[in-house]
Amino acid sequence: MVLCKRFVYFRVSVNALGLFTEVSRRPQRPKGHPKTYFPLTRKNHHRFFSVNASADAAPCDSMCVEPIALKRVFAYPATILMITVGFCRCPEKGRCKRVFLNVVFNDSIMKTETSDRKMEHIRICLEKPVEFEKSNGFERYAFSHNDLQALDWDEIDTSTEFLGKNFSAPIFIEAMTGGTDEARAINQNLAKAAEELGLGMGVGSQRAAIEDEQKIHTYDVRNVAPNILLLANIGAAQIAEYGPDNIRKVVDMIKADGLAVHLNTAQELFQAKGHRDWRNVIRDIKSLSLLGFPVIAKEVGCGISADTAKRLEEAGVSAIDVAGAGGTSWVKVESYNHGSGIAKEFCEWGIPTAESLRQCREAVATPLISSGGIRTGVEMAKSIAMGASLAGMALPLLKPATESHEAVKLKLEQVITELKSTMLLVGARNIEELRRTPVVDITFSSNTPKV
Ligand SMILES: Cc1cc2nc3c(=O)[nH]c(=O)nc-3n(C[C@H](O)[C@H](O)[C@H](O)COP(=O)(O)O)c2cc1C
Repeated sequence: MVLCKRFVYFRVSVNALGLFTEVSRRPQRPKGHPKTYFPLTRKNHHRFFSVNASADAAPCDSMCVEPIALKRVFAYPATILMITVGFCRCPEKGRCKRVFLNVVFNDSIMKTETSDRKMEHIRICLEKPVEFEKSNGFERYAFSHNDLQALDWDEIDTSTEFLGKNFSAPIFIEAMTGGTDEARAINQNLAKAAEELGLGMGVGSQRAAIEDEQKIHTYDVRNVAPNILLLANIGAAQIAEYGPDNIRKVVDMIKADGLAVHLNTAQELFQAKGHRDWRNVIRDIKSLSLLGFPVIAKEVGCGISADTAKRLEEAGVSAIDVAGAGGTSWVKVESYNHGSGIAKEFCEWGIPTAESLRQCREAVATPLISSGGIRTGVEMAKSIAMGASLAGMALPLLKPATESHEAVKLKLEQVITELKSTMLLVGARNIEELRRTPVVDITFSSNTPKV
């Protein structure tokens, strides 16, 4: 429906549920125009929903700065659609004679969709077997046992530094959640445990908080974790969709130290309404280097190949989290979500974490995080010896995080003890020495004991 060339342009289509799904472009927001106005494109329509639902209005054309005489003429049903008509006041012309029509979609449907999906993911991860059948690949690598380490347990130092922050052990709590009250409780428990133990943590995708500022507090953990390395999180697919200002907000809104950008092609492919166009993703990641905070590229369980790592390094990322296969399978999670037969064929898709780590270490000098199916301190030690700066864990901390921060601490203390035990058994006094400790690929060396 085009009302008038100089006013607002609408092209709407109605889907089976009766919801409008498409809004066509109108001119760019001119300088000095109210912040509540965004150009309408199909890609950023969520912002339009979000802003107008609260502002209750939009100006009629590029000259008008203040909508006045608003009248809600139609609201159907309750919160789905609202049409307003009115006049605008223009800085030069005074009251504008032109009538404008403004269609406002209630954004709660979209916001709820994002948060509901995140909660559904949590529920599935807590209740279903979501891990890969195949292993993370670390059983292929072994340390050599050493009985003459000349070390005392108490002198073993697991501390390290990453992106300028001190860690008591090289362990990172991987991104999981946010967007709802339950997610807030999980994030608070994870963060409190991280702070008390001196570790780092990432929050889950902050898409819900961009769509609805009311949700920011569900990601904000600085109240309980003022000192930890904290990473914000957004999907690579969302960089272009939200634009640099919103991406900067993602970091600022939780006072994060950097941004984790997740690559999740396989998950999106099997997600209802998932992202499909990945043509410009490396260009989009590159554009973030201008924003002035560290960017960490991560997978979510399919691993990073040597070639991908090289391209990410060229794009200027500060670190790469390989998040390989062997732990949580996001295709599996999505297959429970939608029961898609095709998804089931791809549940085992991905490069096992140990192999991904090996490839990336050979290909790039960028610091690496080893995650994806890391379940023990022994695997963490192997990760460090194979070139990772940190080892990350998500799923094993989820259930404890629904209980209390003490439960999270208990789980983490267990893996720290395993890591320290491994260090004693290989004779590594500190993380630097562990880095220099050889791990042997036992598929090529049959006489090396498997540890
Ligand atoms: C419940 C849950 C939610 C997750 N949500 C996100 C997310 O929002 N953003 C992200 O980058 N990764 C997310 N991940 C992926 C993890 O950060 C991690 O890369 C992956 O799960 C592999 O680690 P794991 O095998 O220890 O679970 C999530 C993982 C879990 C278990």
